[in-house]
Amino acid sequence: MDKKERIERFEHLRLGLFMHFGLYSAAGEGEWAWHNLPGVRKIYGSLKEHFDPEKLDFTDILSKAREAGMRYAVLTARHHDGFSLYDTRGLSDYDVMHTPYGRDIVRLFADACRECGMMPFFYHTMHDWQHPLMQSDFDAYLDYHRKSVELLCTRYGEVGGFWFDGCWSSKTADWKLDELYSMIRRYQPDAMIINNTGLEARGVVSHPDIDAVTYEQGHTEERAAAAGEMLPAAEACVTLAHHWGYAKRDIDFRSPRSIISELASCRGKGINYLLNVGPRGDGSLRPFDAGMLEALSVWTDQVRDIFYDAERSDIDAGGRNFALEHGGRTYLFVFGFCGPESEHSASLTGSGRISLRGVGRSVKSVRWRDNGRELRFSQDGDCVTVDASGFEYGRNLIVRVAEITYAV
Ligand code: GLC
Repeated sequence: MDKKERIERFEHLRLGLFMHFGLYSAAGEGEWAWHNLPGVRKIYGSLKEHFDPEKLDFTDILSKAREAGMRYAVLTARHHDGFSLYDTRGLSDYDVMHTPYGRDIVRLFADACRECGMMPFFYHTMHDWQHPLMQSDFDAYLDYHRKSVELLCTRYGEVGGFWFDGCWSSKTADWKLDELYSMIRRYQPDAMIINNTGLEARGVVSHPDIDAVTYEQGHTEERAAAAGEMLPAAEACVTLAHHWGYAKRDIDFRSPRSIISELASCRGKGINYLLNVGPRGDGSLRPFDAGMLEALSVWTDQVRDIFYDAERSDIDAGGRNFALEHGGRTYLFVFGFCGPESEHSASLTGSGRISLRGVGRSVKSVRWRDNGRELRFSQDGDCVTVDASGFEYGRNLIVRVAEITYAV
C-alpha cells in the first residue's frame, strides 16, 4: 500500500474509539494525576501492586463502539506515566505482567478488535515522566522506547496505526523520529503513523512521514490541497468530559447534541472523529460513556450504508449543512433540529427551508432517511429549495439526513 492508499483506507474508517486506560484509571483522577497530584503520585506504587481490572471486557466495549459506527479503536499501550499495558519482554518491569492482573492487555485488545471488525491502533507516549533515562541519557531512553514500539510492531499481528503523543514536551529535543518511523515501515508497511501535535499546534504536519494530522479536542478547520499536493488525513480527538483517563469527579459531560453536531461537521470536512472513553479501574465503562455510544448508534442508524464511502459533494447546502454523494444520490446533512416546544405539539422545531446551490441535475425526490417521509421541494435550474422543517413527534436525531434522488 502506498501512502495515498494508506491515507484513503484510514479516511474511510471515519469514526474511532479512543480508550485511555492505565494505572491512573484506578485512582480515578485523570491520566495526568501522577504529574499533577502529589497525593496520587505517592500511592502510584500501590496502584500497580493492586492493578487487577477484572471487569475489563474489550469484546463488550468494542461491540458497543462498532454499533455506534466506529471502525477503529486506539488504546493507550503506554501513557506518560510510563506504565505499559503490554508485555515488555524484560525491557522493564513497569508493565501489566508485573501486576496481579498478569495478562497482556494489548493482546486482549488486539484480539477483541479483530473479533469485532475494528482496526486496532496503539497509542504510545514519546515522553515518559518516570523513566530515569529520560533525564540522564536521552539517547538510551530513545533506544528503550524504540525497542518497546518494536514489540508492538511484531507481536500483535497487523496494526492499523501508531498514535504517538508527547513530542510537544520538548521542541528542541531530537526525538530521532526518522529511525522510529522507518522501523515501523519495515514491520508494518500499511500502518498509519500519527503523532499528536497537541492543543497549540492543531493540524500541523510535524514530519514528512506523518500520515494524519491531529486536532486535539476538536476545533478543526476546512482543509484544501493545493494543486498537485497530497494532504495527510486528519483526525479530531475529543473527550466526553475534561479528562482522557477516568476522573470520577469530572461530571461536566458533553451533550449528545454537541458530540453529534461535531462529528457530523467533521464528516462533512472529511476529518476522522476519534471519541474517547476512560474505563474505570476495574475495566468497566461508566454508564455515561456507554450511554453516549448508545446515542451514537441511534444516530448512525440513518447513515450506516453510506457513511463510510460517500464522497464530498459540490452542492452548497448553506450554513453548517452539507451534502455527500454516493451511488448517484445525494445525502443532505441537515443541522439545527430541536425538541418539541411542548408535548402537545406534533412536530419538532428547527431547520426550515434549505437552499441547495449547484445541484446540476433534475431532482426526483427528497426524503428523510430515518423515517422515509418525503420532503416538499422546488427546483429552479441549479437551485433547489427543500422544506426541511419539523417532523413527526417522538424523535430527535439532532442532525438529520435526507436522500435526494434524480430523474434519469
Ligand atoms: C494530550 C494529553 C494526553 C492525552 C492526549 C490525547 O496530549 O497529554 O493526556 O492522552 O492529549 O490526545
